[in-house]
Amino acid sequence: MSEAKRAAGYRAADMIEDAMILGIGTGSTVYYMMERLAQRISEGLTIHGIPTSLQTEVRAREFGIPLCSLADVSGIDIAIDGADQVDPHKWLIKGRGAAHVRERVVAACAKTFIVVIDPSKQVDVLDGSIPLEVTPFAVSYVVAELSKQGDITIREGIKKDGPVISDNGNVILDYSVGVISDPKTLQQYLNNIAGVVGCGLMTEFSDKIVVIGGG
Ligand code: 5RP
Repeated sequence: MSEAKRAAGYRAADMIEDAMILGIGTGSTVYYMMERLAQRISEGLTIHGIPTSLQTEVRAREFGIPLCSLADVSGIDIAIDGADQVDPHKWLIKGRGAAHVRERVVAACAKTFIVVIDPSKQVDVLDGSIPLEVTPFAVSYVVAELSKQGDITIREGIKKDGPVISDNGNVILDYSVGVISDPKTLQQYLNNIAGVVGCGLMTEFSDKIVVIGGG
């Protein structure tokens, strides 16, 4: 699978043009995109990247990719990011890496949004669990609300006791309903719950998404 991720990441990196402002997503496929981007920078490409997570920021610095902040730019030319599921409408589930709130902001600012995936991420119907970033004060309320319909869990840290805390200082929940029959309505519902900062369902970017499968 990592060869498919590498192929997707490299193909996306080859679509970047000189002087572009680039949104850099989070995850293992984006890692390969940065690997190729670093090669292109060493060959003379000039770009500035805006990272969507602390992990991406650290990796980008290791690769020598010049970074800037969202506040420094008037827009983003291309955002490149991974996804956990992509359906035929180019609707997405994102957030395995708990970075989906910043990833949504960067995708919203971008003229083109390139989603880099291996073929296992392509599904006919979205049915994966949906990450939710929730302000800590609201966690018990959101859990109570969503346990009325579906399965809701607080994401636990690995090598850390207690919940996963996002780069924005919030708690991550995972919500499963099985097959998601109406993703747009569910996204709207989840994002309207008091205390939810953002969910990982993304149905609003289909018109600017290019999906690159690997393999
Ligand atoms: C992080 C994400 C990732 O982009 C998504 O989980 C895909 O990751 P990977 O490329 O490692 O499979 O949404 O919040």
